[in-house]
Amino acid sequence: MSAGGVPRITLGAALEAEHREIDGGIERFLDTLRQGAPDTESLLRAMGGLRRHIYLEEAFLFPPLKDAGMTMPVFVMLREHGELWRAMDGIDALLGDAQDEDAAGRSAVELLSLLDKHNSKEEPIIYTKADEVLDADASAELRIFLTDGELPDGWVCSGAHT
Ligand SMILES: [Fe+2]
Ligand SMILES: [Fe+2]
Repeated sequence: MSAGGVPRITLGAALEAEHREIDGGIERFLDTLRQGAPDTESLLRAMGGLRRHIYLEEAFLFPPLKDAGMTMPVFVMLREHGELWRAMDGIDALLGDAQDEDAAGRSAVELLSLLDKHNSKEEPIIYTKADEVLDADASAELRIFLTDGELPDGWVCSGAHT
C-alpha cells in the first residue's frame, strides 16, 4: 500500500480489475434473472461503472497512447466503445419504459460478449503499454480518477453516434 492507501499495482492491473468488476455485475444480474428475481440494480451499477470506465480511458489513457503512435488500436477501441455505449442505451430503454427484464437479459448477454471481444484486445494491446507510455503526470491523473473520479454529467463517448 502507498501512503494514500491505493495499492501500487500497475495501471493495467487496476484497469483489468475494473473489467472484472463490471463483468461480475452483469453476470450477477443474469444469474438472478435465471432464478426469477432479477437484480436490476446490479446491472445498472455495472453499466454506470462501464460508462465511467470508458470515459477514463478516452479522457486519460488513449490520448497519450495515440500520441505515442498507437493510432490504429486506439481507433478500434473507440469504435467498440461506441458499440458498448449503444448496447447500454438499449438496455436502459428495456429496463425503463418497456420494463422488459427478459429482453434486457438477452441484451445483457450480448453486452457481455461485446465486452469479451473488446477487453480481450484492450488488455494485451493497450493496457500492457499504459505504464510504459504514460508519463508520471498522466499516470498520476489516471490513478486519481480511478480512485474517486466521476463521469461528467451528459458525457457521451465519441463513437456512440457514428
Ligand atoms: Fe475500452
Ligand atoms: Fe477497458
